[in-house]
Amino acid sequence: MLLVENLVAGYGAAKVLHEVSLEIARGEAAALIGPNGAGKSTLMAAIMGVIEARSGRIVVDGTNVTGHTTHSIMTRGLSLVPEGRRIFAPFTVRDNLRMGSIRLSAGRPGFDERLDYVYGLFPRLKQRESQLGGTLSGGEQQMLAIGRALMSNPRILLLDEPFLGLAPKVIEEIQAAVRILQEQGLTLLLVEQKLDIALNIASRACVLIKGSIALESSSDNLKARSDLDDLYFSLAEKAA
Ligand SMILES: Nc1ncnc2c1ncn2[C@@H]1O[C@H](COP(=O)(O)OP(=O)(O)OP(=O)(O)O)[C@@H](O)[C@H]1O
Ligand SMILES: [Mg+2]
Repeated sequence: MLLVENLVAGYGAAKVLHEVSLEIARGEAAALIGPNGAGKSTLMAAIMGVIEARSGRIVVDGTNVTGHTTHSIMTRGLSLVPEGRRIFAPFTVRDNLRMGSIRLSAGRPGFDERLDYVYGLFPRLKQRESQLGGTLSGGEQQMLAIGRALMSNPRILLLDEPFLGLAPKVIEEIQAAVRILQEQGLTLLLVEQKLDIALNIASRACVLIKGSIALESSSDNLKARSDLDDLYFSLAEKAA
């Protein structure tokens, strides 16, 4: 469903991603783990067409989308929950959600259905429909960021560290929502630094170290390894 092949990307003179390849099947959840600065968010940005691929290919459902605009990539069914939530603080919850539906502007068929869907997944957002985004709690802001990404009715959802800085109870609540999305058949790519959360949600994990995939394995395989933390650190050290 999503294929990234030998992707090279970066900023100015800096090359961040070195021939990164990964493949996610329809309905699968894959995790991307790796230390700070490894290039996880850069990979998300490149997949979404926010930064340019210098070489390599990004293929969605058999269509080569390399070089396409972000809007066109969203039209193909991809949506990103960005790192740090990036909600629009001076706008209401409803208006934040409206901005996630650029393909479905308000009043057009589909908008109300998507709104109901998101409110069904996160009832707290419905209760706070008219509240300003900036006054929501951290957990509610994260729900809003996920809800906004779901407004475009994606088939592949990219989640960049959605649990960062949240209390265990809220993490549990958002994990439950992610599980529902999985059951509904959404394909997921989850960036997550905490191995237990990543392996819990995803059936496969890719470890990105210094812009290269250092290890790829099934979650079951990784869970069974008693030396997982050591393995992770030794990969990071080797690359340093
Ligand atoms: N807009 C930018 N301009 C220049 N360099 C950038 C930019 N964004 C990221 N970088 C650099 O690219 C490298 C990878 O950053 P990236 O944010 O992709 O890492 P990450 O794996 O997401 O890290 P974290 O876990 O901290 O979120 C870093 O060296 C970073 O400084
Ligand atoms: Mg990041």
